[in-house]
Amino acid sequence: MALIRWDDGLSVKVASIDQQHQKLIDMINDLSNAMKQGKGKEVIGETINGLISYTRDHFRKEEIYFDKFGYEDTDSHKKEHAAFVQKVGEFKSGFEKGNLSLTVEVMKFLSDWLQNHIKASDKKYAACFNENGLR
Ligand SMILES: [Fe+2]
Repeated sequence: MALIRWDDGLSVKVASIDQQHQKLIDMINDLSNAMKQGKGKEVIGETINGLISYTRDHFRKEEIYFDKFGYEDTDSHKKEHAAFVQKVGEFKSGFEKGNLSLTVEVMKFLSDWLQNHIKASDKKYAACFNENGLR
């Protein structure tokens, strides 16, 4: 069962970014399913690594547009990204140390963070991106 579902309420009105958000949601759902199914450390470790690298890549893409378009909330938005990357990194090292009791909380953190971030922060750049011709 999916932990998060993408719907129009999560759209930032930029097709490429909506696609990246959908992929992130898929990856969080995959991680949640792998954990619920009690998959091995190796499979879960790879899933986490995939999520981390895709997340970094996605944040970088957004940030390139912030810089290019002179987006006004660039600094605070970049800080949110950095805090999330750090948090997921902590989760990964906890997992590698065998700290599996974090599982349910961590999955809730990931899914809540992503949805709140898209709704509260990403949607704020929609108008700026659209004005600069990105749709
Ligand atoms: Fe963002």
